[in-house]
Amino acid sequence: MSSFITIEGSDGSGKSTLIGRMESHLRARGVPFKLTREPGGTPVAEEIRDIILKPNRKLSTLCELLLFEAARADHVETFIRPALASGQSVLCDRFTHSSLAYQGIARGLGEDVVKNLNRVATGGLEPDAVIWLKLDPKIAYDRIESRGGEKSRLDSEAMAFHLRVFDGFSQLAANDPERFIVLDASRSPEQVFQELLAHPNWVRHGDLR
Ligand code: TYD
Repeated sequence: MSSFITIEGSDGSGKSTLIGRMESHLRARGVPFKLTREPGGTPVAEEIRDIILKPNRKLSTLCELLLFEAARADHVETFIRPALASGQSVLCDRFTHSSLAYQGIARGLGEDVVKNLNRVATGGLEPDAVIWLKLDPKIAYDRIESRGGEKSRLDSEAMAFHLRVFDGFSQLAANDPERFIVLDASRSPEQVFQELLAHPNWVRHGDLR
């Protein structure tokens, strides 16, 4: 049995570190899996990613959503579904819940519009579990600042925007407790990883343990 797991969390939440640990864990257990990301994961979707994330680019809200969905349609059809069909599990760094939180809730396009477009883009494919690295946006901001480097177009948004994204994920998680694995990302990477392994919604995916 293969599982489709998505990982959500802002820059600074330790998402890349957690994904690295998950990769080593699955590899050590001989679990067949693919790791991928959104926006991106296929050549076309990676090109669309460059358009979306380019700093200082002006993009209307609906155009932004449709670009995420266009990239997703290609990614699901040509990468995620074939991997799952061949018996591999898929770990995806961000997926449909990012569109709901960022474009639907934080940008105000509405959850219904985004749900509908998500359904069209994915042909109804939904993640078996969504890991959300929950971190106060102000702490995430401080972590990013201390690290330095260029911020993407979305990372450069005002704090009010990041607070709306945070509230968005909180709502999505509260409304879908069977699917969400909410981890306290203010803790150390090791504690976060142990919290994941012990979470009932992770334990349910016996193939990944
Ligand atoms: P990325 O550099 O991958 O950042 P992160 O480390 O935060 O994942 O940039 C992806 C950005 O795109 C991130 O700010 C979240 C945003 N995003 C959306 O707004 N909607 C979406 O549907 C997806 C997949 C991502």
